[in-house]
Amino acid sequence: MMGSSSFNTRVQWHLSFLERTVLNEDYPSSRLLYSYHSAIEGFAARLSDSEFSALQTTHGVIAVRPDHRLQIHTTYSYKFLGLGLAGNQGHSFQSKLGQGTIIGVLDTGVWPESPSFADNGMPPVPKKWRGTCQEGQSFNSSLCNRKLIGARFYIKGHRASSSPPPPPPSIMEYISPRDAHGHGTHTSSTAAGTPVPSASVLGNGAGEARGMAPGSHVAVYKVCWFNGCYTSDILAATDDAIRDGVDILSLSLGGFPLPLYVDSIAIGAYRATEKGIMVICAGGNNGPIPSSVANEAPWITTVGASSLDRRFPANVHTGDGQILNGESMYPESQFANGGRELELVYGGENGAELCFSGSLSKERVAGKMVVCDRSPSGRALAGEVVKENGGAGMILANSELNQEENSVDVHVLPATLIGYAESIRLKSYINSTRKPTARIKFEGTVIGKSRAPAIALFSSRGPSLTNPSILKPDIIAPGVNIIAAWPENLGPTGLVEDARRVNFTVLSGTSMACPHVSGIAALIRTAHPSWSPAAIKSAIMTTSDTLDHWGKPIMDGPKPASVFAMGSGHVNPMRAIDPGLVYDIKPDDYIAHLCTLGYSRVDIFVITHRDVNCFNILLKNRDFSLNYPSLSVIFKHGIRSRVITRRLTNVGLPNSTYSVQVNAPQGVKVKVMPESLTFNHLYQSKIYRVWFFSRKRTSKQVSYGQGQLTWVHNQQSHYKVRSPISVTWV
Ligand SMILES: *[C@@H]1O[C@H](CO)[C@@H](O)[C@H](O)[C@H]1NC(C)=O
Ligand SMILES: *[C@@H]1O[C@H](CO)[C@@H](O)[C@H](O)[C@H]1NC(C)=O
Ligand SMILES: *[C@@H]1O[C@H](CO)[C@@H](O)[C@H](O)[C@H]1NC(C)=O
Ligand SMILES: *[C@@H]1O[C@H](CO)[C@@H](O)[C@H](O)[C@H]1NC(C)=O
Repeated sequence: MMGSSSFNTRVQWHLSFLERTVLNEDYPSSRLLYSYHSAIEGFAARLSDSEFSALQTTHGVIAVRPDHRLQIHTTYSYKFLGLGLAGNQGHSFQSKLGQGTIIGVLDTGVWPESPSFADNGMPPVPKKWRGTCQEGQSFNSSLCNRKLIGARFYIKGHRASSSPPPPPPSIMEYISPRDAHGHGTHTSSTAAGTPVPSASVLGNGAGEARGMAPGSHVAVYKVCWFNGCYTSDILAATDDAIRDGVDILSLSLGGFPLPLYVDSIAIGAYRATEKGIMVICAGGNNGPIPSSVANEAPWITTVGASSLDRRFPANVHTGDGQILNGESMYPESQFANGGRELELVYGGENGAELCFSGSLSKERVAGKMVVCDRSPSGRALAGEVVKENGGAGMILANSELNQEENSVDVHVLPATLIGYAESIRLKSYINSTRKPTARIKFEGTVIGKSRAPAIALFSSRGPSLTNPSILKPDIIAPGVNIIAAWPENLGPTGLVEDARRVNFTVLSGTSMACPHVSGIAALIRTAHPSWSPAAIKSAIMTTSDTLDHWGKPIMDGPKPASVFAMGSGHVNPMRAIDPGLVYDIKPDDYIAHLCTLGYSRVDIFVITHRDVNCFNILLKNRDFSLNYPSLSVIFKHGIRSRVITRRLTNVGLPNSTYSVQVNAPQGVKVKVMPESLTFNHLYQSKIYRVWFFSRKRTSKQVSYGQGQLTWVHNQQSHYKVRSPISVTWV
């Protein structure tokens, strides 16, 4: 909307629109949910369909959009990433541990009493901090401290949503920043949790638990409730976070890919980025479906999920002597004899093979080991259903959809998860005999024996559906079987029936990968306070790994991972702190980029709140390319060559010469000019151009290619500034 000058306050101005729209109401102000001014110029209100249409045609209104409901997409990972090393390696980097940096987390709230939010050893709250510790149900302001410096909650959009199903009676929902679900406690402690010695989940995964940036402060913005996260609430939280003074925003939530001008996260993130706040988001859990990656705006850092080399073996030993690999975090000490031999039961009527609630008969399963096919209704829940019906154990069998995906749970009964190949073997054994039996052997925690990192099957994949000219996701980080803080009034499965109590539990998802990168970004920001969000992102991307800890390509199931699964690669914090060169981006560059996408003036205004003339912008910047740290080339029909420009800024040694090395995608010739870049001082920038020449096309089908382009320092070979290349023929 435009033209606020004649009103005393923004709220009055926003209300004036409602007064013109909402006619049969004494108090139009009762319809106003939020009046925004930092994340977007506008307001959120409850409107009928006809009022919605009326507002759309009101003078001064640019766009009206319905509220959307989004979803939250979960001790050891800091060591895996090379941050927990003893001795002085990277000491100057580690000694600061992200001090002075504030990470804002938009999620389900926080459990402030968790030892991960204790503030021992924390420096004072930064002077620039303007946030608050909002009181509410079971939450008073004295719960904030030097670690957890802010907490707020946003519920108006959630409440106004057309027909919210009433919360299940068993679910406690605190009308306050307090976390009733656990997700937000887990993600914020992953980003910046205080070190907690001898943490474990009922004995599993024991070790020191700590966030990526243990010196950073956390501000929590609760926007997600039992039935999801409403965009009006997310925008309100972003609005406040910008003014509160956060440095980094971490959002482990989202939906499906949307054009940027209807994507509230992208819009709020744009305004945050303009103010120097880095926004990091989960890419979503809709993999391995191609083009499923969400939160794909070029100013957002989009994170995919990878596995660790930590396993929780719990193998199935069948009656005929087969051993089927399984994994579980069921606490073995509670299970005498390491697993009894039990009779197996599988299948039956009414969805019994999925172990849905109400599908199992007590007579059939009591005292038995029940085989359940994995379903979307929840892995731990299947165990609860088996337990309620008297089952003595459970084998959760992956379906074809889940392949060998291995997210573990702290099951409520002796149980394990087996992959799809194993599940076929198990079922043919069951078919082969009248009285099949099996036992589960729990082997505790095993580190370093398996190939990792590898792509998590569920991690959403590129290419970006709405903007293939930017390669997404940007980066991958640990997101499978991550142990982090947990509310003390929830069981480790999160099920209401689970009466066990823990301070830590295990979760999996790109939700868990995202705060790893948020914490690492905080470390870099503390080390380089003047760097822009784009420079920090570039440092993270160009130094990432494409090889796993065994020195072999990072895998995606049985195949080497493509750039659409891992983006630039697996985050490597020790290298990211000292990248040598960065690709920087000014906020205005994003506007020119939006122009290249063919967005209308109104669409660009909605995102940037600026009235721009794309014709003039593109006239001045012929062949404009956004200075992104990865290279995405699209050959439309009949076009055989493309040129891309990039600008590198020296943040390494003042006098440096770098030479380019190219791995060209198959079917493409790549030429870089110049082939070497010499810098004479810090923060000096140099431009280079890359020409891509495509082979002649033989097929009309969409096809892809990939490669990489690396600038290597002539003397200091640890400076390798690598960009992935993706090529798409459409
Ligand atoms: C907050 O809780 C503390 C500890 O329980 C209590 O001492 C204090 O009075 C409470 N403050 C408010 C404002 O309720
Ligand atoms: C087991 O037997 C059932 C019923 O005869 C059949 O549908 C299923 O395909 C068999 N499974 C395997 C793995 O052999
Ligand atoms: C969780 O941590 C708190 C504070 O360190 C401690 O008092 C409590 O006993 C712990 N709870 C469990 C279940 O370990
Ligand atoms: C960089 O090189 C220039 C001349 O090439 C020299 O004057 C300057 O001292 C050098 N700087 C450093 C830090 O070595």
